[in-house]
Amino acid sequence: MLSLGSLLVSTLLLLGNLRASFAKPSSYAVWAADSAITRGQGNGYDDYNDPTKPVVSYEHGELQWGLMRLYSETGNKTYYDYILDASNVIVYDNGSIISDYSFSDYSLDPVRTGPTFVYLYQKTRDKKWKTAADTYHTQLMSHPRTAQGQFWHKKRYPNQGWLDGIYMGDVFYTTYVNEFQPTNSSAYDDIELQFKLMYENTLVASTHLLYHGYDYSHTASWASSDRGHSPEVWDRAIGWYLMALVDIIEIWPAHRSDATFRTQLKSLAPAVAAAADPDHGVWWLVLSQAGRSGNYFESSGAAMFVYALLKGVRLGYLDDADGSLTAAASRAFEYMVANWVVDNGDGTMDWLNTVSVGSLSGDGSFAYYIAQTVRTNDLKGQAAFLLAALEYEKL
Ligand SMILES: *[C@@H]1O[C@H](CO)[C@@H](O)[C@H](O)[C@H]1NC(C)=O
Ligand SMILES: *[C@@H]1O[C@H](CO)[C@@H](O)[C@H](O)[C@H]1NC(C)=O
Ligand SMILES: *[C@@H]1O[C@H](CO)[C@@H](O)[C@H](O)[C@H]1NC(C)=O
Repeated sequence: MLSLGSLLVSTLLLLGNLRASFAKPSSYAVWAADSAITRGQGNGYDDYNDPTKPVVSYEHGELQWGLMRLYSETGNKTYYDYILDASNVIVYDNGSIISDYSFSDYSLDPVRTGPTFVYLYQKTRDKKWKTAADTYHTQLMSHPRTAQGQFWHKKRYPNQGWLDGIYMGDVFYTTYVNEFQPTNSSAYDDIELQFKLMYENTLVASTHLLYHGYDYSHTASWASSDRGHSPEVWDRAIGWYLMALVDIIEIWPAHRSDATFRTQLKSLAPAVAAAADPDHGVWWLVLSQAGRSGNYFESSGAAMFVYALLKGVRLGYLDDADGSLTAAASRAFEYMVANWVVDNGDGTMDWLNTVSVGSLSGDGSFAYYIAQTVRTNDLKGQAAFLLAALEYEKL
């Protein structure tokens, strides 16, 4: 039986919770995370189309990368539990991954949920997470490659390397080898090779940016006659690549040189900072067509750039003696907060202006990129904003 006193206490607690749930947190990182959680984003289900359908989604892996950091910084177990629950949706107790994942597709995208499996194995020592991680590693070990050794982006895109694939495949590859094969030097060589090939096959000589991808066989309709690269520079592709660089340098073992990654980062990061629109301090969707009619400032790429620039400077991977990289990233962060963060008044924020997709499955043209749907609360952008905010709030 409830006493009047305990009823009163519960009522006061309830009111307190209600008030708390309407308050805007003092941290943008917390706000972005809590808003995603409130909406059920990244919970192992398809939050765009069918919230009852389990999906193996790289966006969830990206969000979890941010939640892991938020958990380690705040100690708030809500974040850990959210990661665990989402992963339990896509991995059975015996360690098999649900059928939304297809091994034989040889796609790098689902592999981006793998760093979470390694993380959960480290936290719980539950073998199911190792079994699930082994599946992705086995996929990589038989993954189709170009003659030079680059993983194909997917089996249905023969000989194509996309920048996105580095983030999807190689962050996992590194976390896996760190945990299970830490003395395997050929595995570390292989990871380095993935970055070397991607970089040299997509480098834009004039700007030091990177094209979205390349086709080593030069058969895709969009492949250039020299290196087979795609025609345009897409903001999010470089965003994925830059995030992969700073994340891999951070976890790279001390006994191995990380010079390949640092050298690439030292060239790419200032090139990205220099590519920001001078009047607004953020970046065009199609970086190679700045100011062209139909082009626009896109929010996921910007958030990824801010995260990578600030993290690279904070950890000393980038020399920022004159403060210009930090200034560029801070200016972009302030633009994001002013233009792409909306206070819903119910305790959550919306995140605007993230393009839903950018693929090299078509003609890779400017017209293609600008025609793709722009979404509110697209998790690729919102998770990147969480990561950017974690860095900005350390300044
Ligand atoms: C932990 O995070 C949850 C959800 O984001 C929030 O509701 C809760 O108040 C937080 N707990 C603490 C102790 O800060
Ligand atoms: C793992 O469990 C799932 C769900 O019970 C089942 O469908 C699958 O066949 C099992 N896999 C193996 C390898 O036993
Ligand atoms: C080391 O890594 C390579 C490449 O990832 C792999 O082919 C090989 O089986 C691994 N060797 C051991 C002993 O794990």
